[in-house]
Parts: sequence; C-alpha cells; structure tokens
Amino acid sequence: MMSFGVTLGNLELRSPLIAAAGTVGSVHDYADVDAFRLYGAAVAKSVSHEPWPGRPAPRMAPVGTGMLNSIGIQNPGIDGWRSDMPNLSTLPVPVWGSAVGADPAEFALVAKGLAATGVEAVEVNLSCPNLEEGTMFALNPAASAAVVGAVRAATDLPIGAKLSPNSEDIVEVAKAVHEAGADFVVLTNTVWGLGIDLETRRPKISGIVGGYSGPPVKPIALRCVWEVAAALPVPIVGCGGIRTGEDVIEFLLAGASAVELGSIHFAEPRAGKRILREVDEWCRERGIDSLVELTGAAHG
Ligand SMILES: Cc1cc2nc3c(=O)[nH]c(=O)nc-3n(C[C@H](O)[C@H](O)[C@H](O)COP(=O)(O)O)c2cc1C
Repeated sequence: MMSFGVTLGNLELRSPLIAAAGTVGSVHDYADVDAFRLYGAAVAKSVSHEPWPGRPAPRMAPVGTGMLNSIGIQNPGIDGWRSDMPNLSTLPVPVWGSAVGADPAEFALVAKGLAATGVEAVEVNLSCPNLEEGTMFALNPAASAAVVGAVRAATDLPIGAKLSPNSEDIVEVAKAVHEAGADFVVLTNTVWGLGIDLETRRPKISGIVGGYSGPPVKPIALRCVWEVAAALPVPIVGCGGIRTGEDVIEFLLAGASAVELGSIHFAEPRAGKRILREVDEWCRERGIDSLVELTGAAHG
C-alpha cells in the first residue's frame, strides 16, 4: 500500500485529509465515525474567549450545488469548550483547535486555552469580524499579521492561518501571516454569497450575505492555493469544495501539502474513506507511491 503520510511544516500527518472547522462539531461528536481514523487531523469548530450566541435561524441553506451559511460562529467560549472536551488522546484522530476573537489579545487567550486542552495545532480563523474595523481580519494583511503575531507569542504549537478567498490579494495576506509566525496557511474559508427565497422574496439566511461552500467554490480555492504556492515558501492546506480523490490530487498539484474536507461531511459523513480510496487508486494506476512528490508539481 502506498504511503499517505505528508509533512506540513513541522507536523507529520498520517494522511493528507483533515476535517475542516465547523463541519465536524467539536470532533468528539463524530468520534464514532470510523473514517476519522484515516484523517491526518480534525479541526474542532472555532471557539472564542466568551460564548458567542450565533445568528438567528435560518442559518444554512442549499444554494445551487453548494451551501450558504451564516452560523455566526456560535460557540460556548473557551472555558465551556474545554469542559465539554473529553481527553483528546481518547479520540481516533489528532485534534486541532480553531481560534476566533474580536482583537489580537482575545485570539491569544483562546490559543492558550486550546493549547492547555492538548490540541496538536491551532488554526487562526481570520474570517471573523475585527472589532476595530467591522470587516474580517483576513481582508487586511496588517490586521491578520497582528493576530498571528499575538497567537505566536502565546503558544509554541504549530499555527495555521486560515485565510479568506474574499481578500483582494491573498498572496499579500499569506506573506504577512507567514512573516508574523504562521507555520502554514489554510486556503481557504468560505466565499461570500447570497440566495433569495422566491416565495418569501427574502434572503435565504438571516445574515443575508453568508459563506458559500461546497463544489462550486473549488476553482476559487484552487486559484488561491496556486497563487500562494507560486509566490511563497509557506506550507499550504487546501480547502474548498473537495468531494473526490481527484479533487485532492488537484489541490496537491496546485501546491497544497494537505487538504481539508468541509461541506462534504454534511452529505456524506464517511466521505474521507471513499476519497482516500480514490486517491490510492489514482496513484496506483500511475505508479506513484508517495503523495509528497505531487505537491506543487503543476507549477512545472
Ligand atoms: C456550516 C459551516 C460551518 C463552518 N464553521 C467554520 C468555523 O467555525 N471555523 C472555520 O474556520 N471555518 C468554518 N467553516 C468553513 C469550512 O471549514 C471550510 O473552510 C469551507 O466550508 C470551505 O470548504 P468546503 O467547500 O469543503 O466546505 C464552516 C463551514 C460550514 C459549511
């Protein structure tokens, strides 16, 4: 059998598949999904310092062949998160935490709390609103770097900065967070989108504009991976619309070292098992016995 192991900065992952934040609850909710044993890691839903109530319903809606959500990062706050979490070593997959906050200091507090729980790495979810500017941190390279710098000072754990495809220049943001201490970048979070209900004549979700995800966003995320891989030496996790083994290979070829599976979990919780089998078949047919050689190969 071929080796599925990949390297992401200093992290060794047993497989290139990672469960994306917000799509597998706090991971332990899904601990009996046997496919998780095949994942390199699973990211728990984003958590803030204090509890966030999230937005009122409706918060999710199918739109075209993708889905729109504006959950508003509902979460119990870091203390509630920690008391709810079982001992992470009892789970079948390494768990990463995902931090959100209104300012850099809050991100740093959350990262400390996550580290104390024993997570393997911390993702910094920069797609949440910056208290000072009202827009998401990820749109602004300096604001993003300030957050990552604060988290870097708060923990020695590997840090992944999760960026937004809505930013004007994703390479500038990736460069800023890498220089501020991010060990890898996750490309990307959801794409801004909108859907209108023809019967009510109102937007489909209460937040009006929401995060669009699923198969239609794949080319957008792939473009972000390509641009960052072409410009910077930072390790990349690709994320957006992945639903097949061939999608995974495409992200690796574009420059990703690993990938995250998100919305597919809602339709097919065990998707990872099938996807890894498809990756295996694709590689076998071509005599490839290690995924590592595929990363960035499309750049020539
Ligand atoms: C319902 C839902 C909740 C999400 N919650 C989070 C979250 O808490 N933190 C985060 O960083 N990303 C969150 N995301 C974004 C996903 O992790 C992923 O980046 C995005 O959906 C794109 O991947 P996909 O097309 O495979 O779903 C959420 C996505 C969905 C659909």
